[in-house]
Amino acid sequence: MKLLIKGGRIINPADHTDVIGDILVENGKIIEIGQKIATDGTEVIDASGLVVAPGLIDMHVHLREPGLEAKEDIASGTRAAAAGGFTTVACMPNTKPAVDNSILVSGIIQRGQTEGVVNLKVIGALSKRLEGKELAEIGDMIQTGAVAISDDGGHLDNTRLLKTGLEYTGMFECPVITHSEDEGLAGEGFMHEGAVSAMLGVKGRPSVAEDIAVARDIMLAEYANAPIHIAHVSSKGAVEIIRQAKKRGVKVTAEATPHHLTLTDEELKTFNTAFKVNPPLRSSDHVEALIAGLKDGTIDAIATDHAPHAFEEKDVEFRYAPSGFAGLETALGAVLTGLYHTGKLTLMEIIEKMSYMPAKILGLESGTLKIGAQADITVFDPEYIWEVNCIKFYTRGKHSPFESRNFKGKALITIVNGSIIMQNGEVLK
Ligand code: DOR
Repeated sequence: MKLLIKGGRIINPADHTDVIGDILVENGKIIEIGQKIATDGTEVIDASGLVVAPGLIDMHVHLREPGLEAKEDIASGTRAAAAGGFTTVACMPNTKPAVDNSILVSGIIQRGQTEGVVNLKVIGALSKRLEGKELAEIGDMIQTGAVAISDDGGHLDNTRLLKTGLEYTGMFECPVITHSEDEGLAGEGFMHEGAVSAMLGVKGRPSVAEDIAVARDIMLAEYANAPIHIAHVSSKGAVEIIRQAKKRGVKVTAEATPHHLTLTDEELKTFNTAFKVNPPLRSSDHVEALIAGLKDGTIDAIATDHAPHAFEEKDVEFRYAPSGFAGLETALGAVLTGLYHTGKLTLMEIIEKMSYMPAKILGLESGTLKIGAQADITVFDPEYIWEVNCIKFYTRGKHSPFESRNFKGKALITIVNGSIIMQNGEVLK
């Protein structure tokens, strides 16, 4: 079956092209990119006025399967991904049981194929049961298809284990993804430590707890000459440490989330649990440093840290609520509204950070529009105005820090492997 995406603004960071043109898809692959491709009975998508991008890739989501399906599962989470314009997501292993062996990795890959509507990649645990005591079956998991290794969900305190883990993953050139926050320093806090936490009388998580952990993690990766990826960077100190490490040639990459890039700790004044997340929303000086880091390439990717929880878990007093919230369905809107329409990032830069770079970091072939590539394509309208309404989300996580906000920019069509799986906000599978 043929599909023609006609007259869109094709932006492809892989070769830095930005042209108006057509893309022809057949049997799941891009077979032609050009001007005025003949229609001859093919299904046509009129993309005039819209942006046609390589499918968005979210390298950091929590799909909660197995064991935590009240929060999310592969069916609901990948539908949320499709609704948000993502064609590939990589899921974290902090499930019950934790994904710390090859049987679970292959089980999730299979569930992705049968239950998922977008491409699902798996991240295996670094330590058994995520306990930080013993290495998990890292080599086996990588050979089974895990694209990265991580104890995300919490910080890995055990420095020796992280060193051994990096020495091991380094042999496969497989990135370790770290949740870098020194828990001894941050662990009792509920929000960013600063003027707002002092005013509210809430214990804070100091930014230096993140700086210290990022510095340690990078030093270990440098020592082991192994690739490391710092998840959800939120502190200005961490940005500078990563910048300096890149200058030294350390194999370090980093991501920032739409919420850390567009919101501050001022939001916490409402004690709304939808703003509770780890690392916490920080003050505007940190936000500015993150954006500068994105701009100069210190931060390579934008990832959601989509971390849904059941409604009743979040619907409690602030200190008892779990950290995290849904992010897949608001990511593109938040980034276009907060970073593109304010002139901070170009569309080319945004697509690079949300598709091309995550693919590169995870060693995926996707993230580009070229002849012969699998047809994973996102069509979005950067001018589309809409209001966030969590109740309508496909994800089971009905809390979002962006609830009721007006966004400018939305994915209108998600194409996975040549099939339209989302159109005008509706997931078709
Ligand atoms: O707030 C968070 N929630 N941060 C994380 O790193 C983990 C996540 C979760 O799994 O709920």
